Amino acid sequence: MHITALASLLTLPALSLAAPTKQHPLGSKHSSPYKPDHYDPYDRKHDSVGEGLHPEPYRNGKGTSVLGPRNRMREQQDPDMVRPPSTDHGAMPAMRWSFADSHTRIEEGGWTRQTTVRELPSSKEIAGVNMRLDKGVIRELHWHKEAEWAYVLSGEVRVTALDSEGGSFIDDLKEGDLWYFPSGHPHSLQGLGENGTEFLLVFDSGGFSEESTFILTDWLAHTPKAVLSENFRIPPELLEHIPLSEKYIFQGSIPGSIEEEKPKAFKQSKLNFTFNMLDVEPQVGSGGQAKIVDSRNFPISKTIAAGHLDIGPGSMREMHWHPNADEWSFFIKGRARVTIFAAEGTARTFDYMGGDVGVIPANMGHFIENLSDDEPLEVLEIFRSDRFMDFSLFQWMGETPQRLVRDHIFANHPKAAKEFLRQVEGGKKDVIKEQYYKSPEHEEAIRRLEGGGDGGEGWAEEL
Ligand SMILES: *[C@@H]1O[C@H](CO)[C@@H](O)[C@H](O)[C@H]1NC(C)=O
Ligand SMILES: *[C@@H]1O[C@H](CO)[C@@H](O)[C@H](O)[C@H]1NC(C)=O
Ligand SMILES: *[C@@H]1O[C@H](CO)[C@@H](O)[C@H](O)[C@H]1NC(C)=O
Repeated sequence: MHITALASLLTLPALSLAAPTKQHPLGSKHSSPYKPDHYDPYDRKHDSVGEGLHPEPYRNGKGTSVLGPRNRMREQQDPDMVRPPSTDHGAMPAMRWSFADSHTRIEEGGWTRQTTVRELPSSKEIAGVNMRLDKGVIRELHWHKEAEWAYVLSGEVRVTALDSEGGSFIDDLKEGDLWYFPSGHPHSLQGLGENGTEFLLVFDSGGFSEESTFILTDWLAHTPKAVLSENFRIPPELLEHIPLSEKYIFQGSIPGSIEEEKPKAFKQSKLNFTFNMLDVEPQVGSGGQAKIVDSRNFPISKTIAAGHLDIGPGSMREMHWHPNADEWSFFIKGRARVTIFAAEGTARTFDYMGGDVGVIPANMGHFIENLSDDEPLEVLEIFRSDRFMDFSLFQWMGETPQRLVRDHIFANHPKAAKEFLRQVEGGKKDVIKEQYYKSPEHEEAIRRLEGGGDGGEGWAEEL
């Protein structure tokens, strides 16, 4: 690194104090952080989509321009692929897929598209389906070997199901509600309201295919009419005009209220197949909140656990890992940066936005930063497990003997050790942390670091 580069690195803390509120690290709206002369030893995030920036492969005096063909739209959505943080290293399979890259199956009044192990090979434990049903449109009566968990993204939907003891279930759901159908349980979905519904379906196997479910009309079309006649006790002549193949998604008639629709044979199931996720008491962090749903509060959901995260202004889902399952994340709104740490010095950074899917294998350390200045970041973390489980790095550091922590990280820097230990000493797990960069707390720490300000001497002493 040459001299001017070094000089600009050394003056960074002072520079970052100059504009205390707005969050435009180094590269402001006026100077792109993707210029050859841009230096940032801290690898700060940039919202290239939100700020209309064009990522270029320049980093701290290295790199050069792109001469060949390029897909600028893709590069803008993946700024940390074009210029990865200097901390990224080693090889990692793809951990991002967008539903925009999935094939859309278009049917009467609806559509569906899926992200499975075929689209995203790292999506081994979970497959996702994004489906839209207009008003009155039906996803026909069917079942499958995988269990199905779902989150309503928009509109209203009626679900019906049958349990294995002959109990029936009908419910109407709206945005933020969930359902869960255990493996093999037959069910149906129908769009309600003015514009029907859109939802995310999650299956507890990456190999699931929305094309290979067991569908009522498909079965009837592939059974001899003589057998149907025996089974349903009607003359085979009356079966001449049944569908010749599956209907799958089709326009249905508009349903009445649940009460009006209940058949004579209706026996209320003892199971509760649906749940209102947004009513869950949140875990409140300093920069947002997390709502956790698993078999502890939604007992039927034995194979899927989930967290719904709202990540506030400039905030971050703190550094953590999940010991019990791969994370399958679905980004509902906003833009995010995530670095996945895979041990053996391997780390890679991925960027996500609304409609994208991410996979983070079990035990790999990660965080989720909100990149956007104007769009909220809302994300679902989904696991093939009966329990949501995570480890917070911050909490671990706080609950470990301080001398041990200091010896690991700050053996040669007692001043830094004291500041670090002062922060973690409460051992408090803060699932979503508010922005520290340029906060009064950050500025105060820098004043202490520079020797001035209150309490500077206090923590600068030897431990
Ligand atoms: C239905 O969609 C139309 C057109 O996009 C929109 O104007 C209307 O507000 C929607 N209605 C509801 C209830 O969301
Ligand atoms: C199912 O659970 C919801 C809470 O999520 C509750 O409001 C509803 O009454 C329950 N339904 C049945 C049939 O137990
Ligand atoms: C995400 O962070 C940006 C600032 O980086 C903020 O303006 C936006 O409101 C945040 N999202 C939420 C949900 O608050």
